[in-house]
Amino acid sequence: MKAIIFDKFGDSSVLKTSDITLPDLNNDEVTVAIAFTSVNPVDAKIRAGHLVEMLSHKLPIVPGWDVAGKVTAVGSAVSSFKVGDEVYAYARKAEVHDGTYAEFINLSESAVALKPSTLKLSAAAAIPLVGLTAHQSLFNTADLKKGETVFITAGAGGVGSLAIQFAKVQGATVITTASSKNHDYLKTLGADHTIDYTKGNVVESVRKIAPQGVDVVFDASGGDSLDEAWLTIKKGGRLVSIVQPPDENKARELGVQATFVFVEPSGAELKEIAQLIDAKKVKTPTINIRSVKEAAKAQDENEQRKTQGKVVLAIDF
Ligand SMILES: NC(=O)c1ccc[n+]([C@@H]2O[C@H](COP(=O)([O-])OP(=O)(O)OC[C@H]3O[C@@H](n4cnc5c(N)ncnc54)[C@H](OP(=O)(O)O)[C@@H]3O)[C@@H](O)[C@H]2O)c1
Repeated sequence: MKAIIFDKFGDSSVLKTSDITLPDLNNDEVTVAIAFTSVNPVDAKIRAGHLVEMLSHKLPIVPGWDVAGKVTAVGSAVSSFKVGDEVYAYARKAEVHDGTYAEFINLSESAVALKPSTLKLSAAAAIPLVGLTAHQSLFNTADLKKGETVFITAGAGGVGSLAIQFAKVQGATVITTASSKNHDYLKTLGADHTIDYTKGNVVESVRKIAPQGVDVVFDASGGDSLDEAWLTIKKGGRLVSIVQPPDENKARELGVQATFVFVEPSGAELKEIAQLIDAKKVKTPTINIRSVKEAAKAQDENEQRKTQGKVVLAIDF
């Protein structure tokens, strides 16, 4: 099969098209013919070798962790899927090796779900990684409740686009940051309050809206944004960062429960997310579809941190 691969770490010039062999199918796996994948910031971080201490890697590596496509084979122990099913998945495995910028992938049944029936495969490919990240952070970790206020940094990105909507479905008030050009977009996602982080004082702006501090911070930005976000949270509040481990001393000082979340594959949660989408409670982010042959350019652009919503790659070698 054709795939984008890299056999050494580096900038986007290490990416190349190659013919590779699909590994044998295990009993508990399905083979998916990938129609679309999507670009996530982690793709470039892995390509550059930044995650070698955190995850096991085996070169050559096919990048990519999002997939939407059709099941073409099922292992003997698979009970939930049949050939022809249209599915989506977050395809991270124990070892970083066989990813989704490829024509096929074998995936554990437990990581896969039927795609939302109201979405095309192209839109479905934009959801798994960012959807699961937002879902696990807001609900499994921060336990966001109805009536609470959440401050979400980087609302216009892939993760932020889903996090804003999940928080609104839960009945929370959402405060979020983006540059002004993205504020209309944030409103279409349901954000109650939008703040331009490039102008003025973000902490003062949040405190004007929530004078006692917010109940939950969901940080999808890190760095200076996370430094500021600490100052917006109430004592006893919860902070989740998906970009860097939060400072434990600061958490103790401020009386805040602070956690780093690294998203886990879950077909069961993708099924819940599909139900929210099919019920029209959650919509897809803005999607820009490109060819997988433009993967290097798409990763370079994604590294600029200016993407509104998601860039989806069509598997059209
Ligand atoms: N731990 C995990 O499991 C996990 C999972 C998913 C993602 N992540 C990480 O989370 C981060 C976000 O991921 P993503 O997919 O949402 O990224 P993304 O889609 O590439 O984010 C781009 C967006 O970030 C916004 N942005 C950039 N700097 C900002 C700032 N200082 N304040 C507010 N907004 C800012 C931009 O809005 P403007 O154009 O308006 O500036 C743009 O819309 C990345 O670092 C990614 O690696 C971690």
